[in-house]
Amino acid sequence: MGMLDGKVAIVTGAGHGIGRGHAMELAKHGATVIVNDLGGSVTGEGTGRDADLTVKIIEGRGGTAAPNYADVSDYDQAGEMIAQAVDQFGRLDILVNNAGIVRDGSIFNMSVEDFDAVLKVHLRGTWIPCKHAALHWRAQNKETGERVDGRIINTVSGAGLTGNFGQSNYAPAKAAIASLTQTLSLELYKIGVTVNAVGPAAATRITGTMPNAPAVIEADEIPDDEWNRMDPAVSSPLVAWLASDEADHVTGQIIRAVAENIILMKGWADGPTINNKGNRWDATKLGQQLATDVFFTRAPGLRY
Ligand SMILES: NC(=O)c1ccc[n+]([C@@H]2O[C@H](COP(=O)([O-])OP(=O)(O)OC[C@H]3O[C@@H](n4cnc5c(N)ncnc54)[C@H](O)[C@@H]3O)[C@@H](O)[C@H]2O)c1
Repeated sequence: MGMLDGKVAIVTGAGHGIGRGHAMELAKHGATVIVNDLGGSVTGEGTGRDADLTVKIIEGRGGTAAPNYADVSDYDQAGEMIAQAVDQFGRLDILVNNAGIVRDGSIFNMSVEDFDAVLKVHLRGTWIPCKHAALHWRAQNKETGERVDGRIINTVSGAGLTGNFGQSNYAPAKAAIASLTQTLSLELYKIGVTVNAVGPAAATRITGTMPNAPAVIEADEIPDDEWNRMDPAVSSPLVAWLASDEADHVTGQIIRAVAENIILMKGWADGPTINNKGNRWDATKLGQQLATDVFFTRAPGLRY
């Protein structure tokens, strides 16, 4: 008996890399998986049938899967993807938003098109499938009067949580997905949907664009009983657990799964505070007050 038996999942961007790892893992635990992938290049050009190979791998291992070629940032195509789960398999339980592209460069060199394209696939391409799934689950909740036990698992990155040189498009897109995750966890918990985000790390096409990157690995190349810290499926067991009934109390969490570690991220939190005791702040005195209690004393000569 698998921990995801009877559940229907969608994994976006599952034609390669981390998404393929997630799709294989969910199928291994009994879920029926819709493997979405637009099939373009790592920078988001073109289209293809890359989803077919992941479907073939899952079926070859005894699982059930179907391909979907939607652009997740397109409202109508993403709507048809959510409808496919219901039309073809009768229900939707799990949505894993994983699709992504990169177009790195410092802000001096990055074009507006490269900024827009990355924000579009990551942020809009997460929000739109979430919206369609939320509308579907709310209708189901209204019809049955029962909590729907839905799961959304989004994909963030260390770059978005701490910043990264050369990724002024990708990093804010990923930070926004963390914020979207927290916001949707508040909006959807009432109908029984948890919303969490996972931050993976792996040797994929995306990391392959960076200097001195390790060779690209596909998840099906690593046997199930073999440990490889750059395996695209390193974070997939965490995704499967978050998708399961066992995790129905976990929502609004941002969790990184990096090599041997699973790390619960702590987001924005109040730090040192000064209080004006009901008096208007005085700009000419703020420097002294902040220096003492917030930013400490500036080292002589230090400036950015
Ligand atoms: N590789 C890492 O170390 C790492 C680290 C942190 C986060 N991530 C994130 O993990 C996710 C997966 O990336 P990956 O590293 O496996 O790269 P990848 O290129 O192997 O996989 C991304 C997949 O998304 C698909 N895709 C792109 N645009 C799409 C669209 N509009 N609609 C549908 N599918 C689309 C691509 O065709 C590709 O198959 C991304 O969100 C990425 O930002 C990766």
